[in-house]
Amino acid sequence: MLYIQNLVYHPPATHTAILKGINLELAPQELGLVIGPSGSGKSTLLEILSGLAEATSGELRWRQQVLTPDHLQQLGGLVFQFPERHFCTGTLLEELKLGHPELSNERVQEALNEVGLGHLDLKTAPQALSGGQQRRLALAVQLIRQPHLLLLDEPTAGLDWSVRRQVIALLQRLKAHWTLLVVTHDASDLLAIADRCWTLHQGELRTVDPQTLAAKAH
Ligand SMILES: Nc1ncnc2c1ncn2[C@@H]1O[C@H](COP(=O)(O)OP(=O)(O)OP(=O)(O)O)[C@@H](O)[C@H]1O
Ligand SMILES: [Mg+2]
Repeated sequence: MLYIQNLVYHPPATHTAILKGINLELAPQELGLVIGPSGSGKSTLLEILSGLAEATSGELRWRQQVLTPDHLQQLGGLVFQFPERHFCTGTLLEELKLGHPELSNERVQEALNEVGLGHLDLKTAPQALSGGQQRRLALAVQLIRQPHLLLLDEPTAGLDWSVRRQVIALLQRLKAHWTLLVVTHDASDLLAIADRCWTLHQGELRTVDPQTLAAKAH
């Protein structure tokens, strides 16, 4: 279970805090969805949860354990917006083993199976994959590290309708084993798979009911 209590992020360079007293709880095998417009602080929240930035104040815990940025880097797997832009090797095998040369090819195969890419040759170039397959690969790159918490920044951005559907179906399947926190400015089709939902406006987080929001959207 992830607990965030009174999380504030106020870098010295900014006039006001970017995240203002965030409270959030997310249970294992739940998908939490944070919806907010551009500049509301979504990516900043994920940077803190993945240990890339340090909160100014507040507490982050996984069950009873208080989490430092080092813990968070172990616990969290962050998939950036447009992750395919960050692929930097020539084959699926190299991409999945990057930074983890000790991982066996079986682990690589398992991670690819998990995201529905198990049929591909490990020598395939990441750049040769379709848009939807590249998003799946980016998920596999994080899953292979076996994080507790999968953090996804706009996972369906820039995908066409049918590929969005595939990615959403995959996220729903991943909930069986992982805890997921997704941030987006466009919640439309993600609401259907969300267990918990919040809106973020100018760094302030509010709980909303995913079903109420989904009903409003239709
Ligand atoms: N290190 C930093 N120093 C100063 N300002 C920052 C820093 N990081 C983010 N910001 C500012 O914080 C605000 C929130 O940025 P953030 O990238 O988290 O928004 P976002 O919700 O992810 O937006 P988008 O939907 O466009 O990706 C913005 O006003 C941004 O300019
Ligand atoms: Mg962002």
